Amino acid sequence: MTLLVAPSLLAADFGCLAAEAARAEDAGADMLHLDIMDGHFVPNLSFGPDMIRAIRKATRGIPLDVHLMVQHPDDLASAFVDAGAAYLTVHAEAGPHLHRSLQNIKKLGAKAGVAVNPATSVDFLPHVAGLLDLVLVMSVNPGFGGQAFIPEAVPKVRTTRACLDRLGLASVLIEVDGGVSAANAGSLAAAGAQVLVAGSALFRQADLGAAIAGLRTAACPVA
Ligand code: DX5
Ligand code: ZN
Repeated sequence: MTLLVAPSLLAADFGCLAAEAARAEDAGADMLHLDIMDGHFVPNLSFGPDMIRAIRKATRGIPLDVHLMVQHPDDLASAFVDAGAAYLTVHAEAGPHLHRSLQNIKKLGAKAGVAVNPATSVDFLPHVAGLLDLVLVMSVNPGFGGQAFIPEAVPKVRTTRACLDRLGLASVLIEVDGGVSAANAGSLAAAGAQVLVAGSALFRQADLGAAIAGLRTAACPVA
């Protein structure tokens, strides 16, 4: 089974983010998770497309997984794809036209993802499933790193996996983001999560490579 570890740069040293991105790539990350916050959809601000471009330049080709926590994502999508986003994920709650937002991302040539907040059901998935490359199940309320994991994310991952399998969409990735650590990685992977985003659990460790490897082992213990 695919298990990808995607460090969230939100927990890295903002004084040298591009170098931190390169460090995470060298430490064995599979994707880099980049959190874009606009101060409206979430009560916090992070960085924009210029930072994505700088990270693209500083790294050797690791996929950039851009998580848009913004209102009006359609206005920003092309700037992020131009800057180097491989995956562009919009929130289901960001606006009334999710289908259009996903179409727009696909038209721009990126892989399209939809994120769901903890209070959002995944019942809508069949209506947009043909446009999806990734479903992001939030396991905290978005806006800040370092929050406690909300355990209801585990059954939501299971429901999402079952729904995608029913639709014949086994290749759509399920990603989990927020409070992910070695303590919950095993139950998330068993429920069907394939991309684990982790900020604090990785960047707070002295040895980033060991932390990434530890998360991978916790998710898929070798028999
Ligand atoms: C939260 C962000 C997450 C965050 C995860 O809004 O989407 O990606 O950085 O950080 P941790 O792993 O510290 O919860
Ligand atoms: Zn995120």
